[in-house]
Amino acid sequence: MGTIARTAVITGAGSGIGRATALELAANGVHVIAVGRRLHALEETRDLSHGGPITCVSADVSTEDGRAAIVEAAGPSVDFLVHGAAISPACLIGDPGFRDSWNEVMRINLDSLMCVTLSLSDQLSGGGRVLFVGSNSASKPRRGGAAYCVSKAGGRMLYRCLKLELGDLGILMTTAIPSPVYTDIVKHHIKSQDVFPDGADYARQLAAGEMIAPETVGAFYRWLLLENSDTSYARDQWNINHSAHHKDWLKGPLCMPPMDLDMAGD
Ligand SMILES: NC(=O)c1ccc[n+]([C@@H]2O[C@H](COP(=O)([O-])OP(=O)(O)OC[C@H]3O[C@@H](n4cnc5c(N)ncnc54)[C@H](OP(=O)(O)O)[C@@H]3O)[C@@H](O)[C@H]2O)c1
Repeated sequence: MGTIARTAVITGAGSGIGRATALELAANGVHVIAVGRRLHALEETRDLSHGGPITCVSADVSTEDGRAAIVEAAGPSVDFLVHGAAISPACLIGDPGFRDSWNEVMRINLDSLMCVTLSLSDQLSGGGRVLFVGSNSASKPRRGGAAYCVSKAGGRMLYRCLKLELGDLGILMTTAIPSPVYTDIVKHHIKSQDVFPDGADYARQLAAGEMIAPETVGAFYRWLLLENSDTSYARDQWNINHSAHHKDWLKGPLCMPPMDLDMAGD
């Protein structure tokens, strides 16, 4: 008799860290429910998996309809939930569009963490693992990044409160900080240095070979989700830059080779 495939819901699976994690889990036989708003990006993830067990669900995590579509696609049992969806528009607090931008960031980056987790809590109960993508921006204020920083700080506390209360259901949770990772969010910040001056730090890190590839984060998250004991997994916070665990999963260098922006493409 064959074993029943485990199921992972991964939001933000059409690019960056979410995509890399989806590919790693699918390569290890986990059925991935890949969630994002752009269907073509999700289909690209599925194509990259060369026929891996990936189901694409075009859904906005910040809407009730979107979350209903996720629950329907996930089925009766979910082993892993990875909260990869987020946006990080560069916008100064005094800008005319700031209020709208703030509201959108809070809906996607913060409210959806709670709503998606609660929507799937029955399916996750009895041993399911939830992974929150942490960020240094939770504790570092950034000019032009107020909404993102506040959403990440709020996400950190929300995770801790959910862990306290949903622990009773046997749902295991952790936060893992991956940064800095060369993804669309970072590319956008590098291009927006007039509004988001920390983008210059990201450009310098790219040139200095201090950026991490999303694929490396995918390998880290695969190890966290698939190969850790419950006690080890559910520690308060993991950080990819702490070297103590590298021997357990890292196959080569942590960071990408130095790259100049012209070579880096879009
Ligand atoms: N890159 C870094 O250095 C870094 C550092 C720390 C933490 N993080 C965190 O890592 C996570 C992944 O980000 P990333 O760096 O990989 O950037 P990314 O490539 O831009 O990924 C974000 C993904 O979220 C999806 N998304 C955005 N809004 C959504 C919504 N309303 N519903 C469903 N999906 C939505 C996007 O797809 P659609 O637009 O198609 O929906 C996109 O695929 C985020 O939580 C980010 O805060 C990144």
